[in-house]
Amino acid sequence: MNEAEAKKRIETLTAELKQHNYLYYVLAQPSISDYEFDMMLEELQRLEKKFPQFADPDSPTQKVGGDITKEFKTIKHRHRMMSLGNTYNEEDLREFDERVRKGLGSDNFEYVCELKFDGFAISLNYQNGVLIQALTRGDGVQGDDVTTNIKTIKTLPTRLKGDFPADLEMRGEVFMHRAAFEKMNADREAEGLPGFANPRNSAAGTIKMQESSEVAKRPLDLFLYTLIADGKEYRAHYENLQKAASWGFPVSSYSKKCSSFEEVMDFIHHWDKHRHDLSFDIDGVVIKVNNCDQQDELGFTAKTPRWAISYKFKAETATTILETVTYQVGRTGAITPVANLKPVKLAGTTVKRASLYNEDQINKLDLRLGDTVFVEKGGEIIPKVTGVDLSKRNPDSAHLVYAQHCPECGTPLIRREGEAQHYCPNDSGCNPQVRGKVVHFIGRKAMNIDSIGAETVELLFDQGLISNYADLYYLKYEDLIRLDRMADKSVRNLLEGIEKSKQVPFERVLFALGIRMVGETVAKKLAKKFRTIDALQAASMDELIAVDEIGSKIAEQVLAFFMDERNLAIIQKLKDAGLRFEMEEGSGPVSNVLDGKSFLVSGVFSSFSRDELKASIEANGGRNVSGVSSKLDYLIAGDKMGPEKLKKAESLGIKIINEEEYIAMLSGTGLPSGAPAGHKGVTQQGSLFE
Ligand code: IVH
Repeated sequence: MNEAEAKKRIETLTAELKQHNYLYYVLAQPSISDYEFDMMLEELQRLEKKFPQFADPDSPTQKVGGDITKEFKTIKHRHRMMSLGNTYNEEDLREFDERVRKGLGSDNFEYVCELKFDGFAISLNYQNGVLIQALTRGDGVQGDDVTTNIKTIKTLPTRLKGDFPADLEMRGEVFMHRAAFEKMNADREAEGLPGFANPRNSAAGTIKMQESSEVAKRPLDLFLYTLIADGKEYRAHYENLQKAASWGFPVSSYSKKCSSFEEVMDFIHHWDKHRHDLSFDIDGVVIKVNNCDQQDELGFTAKTPRWAISYKFKAETATTILETVTYQVGRTGAITPVANLKPVKLAGTTVKRASLYNEDQINKLDLRLGDTVFVEKGGEIIPKVTGVDLSKRNPDSAHLVYAQHCPECGTPLIRREGEAQHYCPNDSGCNPQVRGKVVHFIGRKAMNIDSIGAETVELLFDQGLISNYADLYYLKYEDLIRLDRMADKSVRNLLEGIEKSKQVPFERVLFALGIRMVGETVAKKLAKKFRTIDALQAASMDELIAVDEIGSKIAEQVLAFFMDERNLAIIQKLKDAGLRFEMEEGSGPVSNVLDGKSFLVSGVFSSFSRDELKASIEANGGRNVSGVSSKLDYLIAGDKMGPEKLKKAESLGIKIINEEEYIAMLSGTGLPSGAPAGHKGVTQQGSLFE
């Protein structure tokens, strides 16, 4: 690989891994398996070692985890939460074992083998036996305060019994049992809500919910696997966990002390084979040196301990026959090809279907009907086809020709330049799209009409009572009472829910319209900037892309939406029905104390998340920019900001301030020269700065 190729590959891997980190840690919706992620990360590590000049200072290889979600208070960990190095085969693990022996200069030590629970890490602070705080790992340095939510976990003791240390930190993994997860997903689907991909995502999604009463309804569980306390009596890991169990903590009984490498391998092989006998998911085994003095002697690398490592199980594979390929149409018209397989047992379940993602993937695999294919189950519930056993191919089989027409409405499919997915463009006449739009419209984060479920939407369509979401507002009691399963009470309830939704604020109405690529956040930004639907409709490409984080792709979709007469007619109907198409008074800027000033926010902050800081800048009249240039007025520097940015800002003589100085600017005590004196800046959420 030459320099130019290496540079390009490093850039691609960096960008992709950052996106996957975001999907995994922030959205809890990973799109690739852990194994694939680790392979990409390893490739990047190798390349960065060979070509350090091209490494991004903010490279995913430099940090342990992801970002901080904004809803919870972010708090610094008392002790940094490290990650574990990964191994995938015996050879890698043997190298780890040799490093441990060399590091200790002795063969006189024990390992503890534990299951690697597939959930998410949590740190619990107990003072005098009482749980006072629970933090997520966040980025390892600081995490979200999720104490109220964690307290809802039935197996977690909030008050300890016995002879516990006064100051105690316990760490462990929150997860969901598979059966509970499946039941929860079935309930969600019945309500028309999307199911979670796997128990891990579902546990992570649950703990980040705002209402702890909702969390309490979800069946979370946890195992503790680390104890941090001062004192001679807490210097052996295995024994620590036994003590923790006696104080009331749920500790896994599957851990084992091992005094030879062979015993460790036996433990691994046993659980690789029997992991589906457990009621919860594991994705490997964790191997730790037991003695804490020996742990200290070995110490840490920048990111991981030298005294522990994880052995990750390979995703399980099976072979079966590809019988047919069918195509699914999503709400946005996106087409997903699905492999229909001869049923086969895989990872404890029977698999009949697998995702094929898109045309490129099918071509890459060179799939043909009747092929013997390999299917793999990674982190996701839906397995995927990973390859073809060519030795079993029928030489007469023909190449698969990708669908040319929509399987639902027959419209010719399109594939936009630069996109992998095909689309059905018939968004106003194609059944799953038309109905899917209504389901999206009534959703909790959109119009929140919870008196209607996905089944009722189907019924209303089938009976010809609606053909788009605007029709919901013109439904009449007389029409509904005639329907099957609709009694007086349910009809009144339904109509009441619709009526109530007229109070939903503009930004959510905008999200509910279902404009492609306009998710919740983009809708908020557009609503805040343009304030009314009429202003948004009149906005030009340039005006749209001037909005923070709105690029030309999103802007094109907004323009296309308002160019379509049918959409305009629907909006008119919604306006006539009395929905809110304007921002409320008082939701505008809070002050103009930062008027005309540009800011670049970089690094991690202790009082608020980056998004909150940016929102506060805008709310007080300032402007956020994304790069350092001579036009930049202030760089707000947080912890761990990129050294390159800092250097550049210093060389251009840009004012560099910390978060305290920023807060002082807002409160009028540290105003930048030229700003109106005595003008008090207020934040949208005053409590952030208390
Ligand atoms: S020990 C210093 N033990 O795996 C490392 N972690 O890849 C402390 N995990 O962040 C972690 N089961 O979320 C440890 N028995 C176990 C575990 C475990 C699952 C998770 C944990 C950690 C991640 C590292």
